[in-house]
Amino acid sequence: MRNIFIACDTSSIQKVKKIIKQSQISLKGYRIGYKFGLEFFYSKNGRKFIEKSKIRNLWLDIKAFDIPNTCFSAIKSLGDLKNISYITAHVSGGYEMLSAIKQATKKYNKKLKILGVTVLTSFSDTSIKKVGHTKSIKDLVRKQALLAKKSKIDGVVCSAHEIKFIKRICKKMEIITPGIRFKGEKINDQKRVLSPKEAFKNGATSIVMGRSLIKGNIKNNIQKLIKSLK
Ligand code: C5P
Repeated sequence: MRNIFIACDTSSIQKVKKIIKQSQISLKGYRIGYKFGLEFFYSKNGRKFIEKSKIRNLWLDIKAFDIPNTCFSAIKSLGDLKNISYITAHVSGGYEMLSAIKQATKKYNKKLKILGVTVLTSFSDTSIKKVGHTKSIKDLVRKQALLAKKSKIDGVVCSAHEIKFIKRICKKMEIITPGIRFKGEKINDQKRVLSPKEAFKNGATSIVMGRSLIKGNIKNNIQKLIKSLK
């Protein structure tokens, strides 16, 4: 079963409720999930909402990136959120950090799956050089995929352009792709984008979509997605 995660990028609980209500569809072969990122989780009532939520297939996109001890403790602090299925950590935090997160999930939240974020889809080969990297994004993502595999985490987050070679490294791992846009749509701050259909065709196990689904008429956007996957 492939997942379509809807990024609930808002700080409004009302908006989240609307997104959930208007995206209750059954689509053969696909399962809808919901991703809560920094905007919602950092908002005043965000954590409380997630705590009480009965929705299934939840992804808490915290993108952990700190020293191993701090990340271990952060996962301990999330230990009460047994309803979350996925959390994220930056692979560039390194093997020790990913291992600490793995240890913490084993101890405090056994069912929680860890996704390693490789190079953000908002980077291009030009902008990645400006933060000091000398390799191309492709080389960097390849290295990070190897590290994610070595760290025995559950999956990687990458752009849909990188799935094919990541699949050869991370054979049985989940591959989740943001940077998804309908054909001809504005890409905003994203740089490495493909359409939902192209991402699944390349081998994504899941995609995540935010603005294309939650801006404007949500029901119409979901219908557009269904049509585009046919
Ligand atoms: O609105 P858009 O579809 O561009 O949103 C993409 C979502 O995926 C955002 O919530 C963003 O935080 C998340 N994400 C991403 N790139 C990653 C990991 C997560 O865009 N590498």
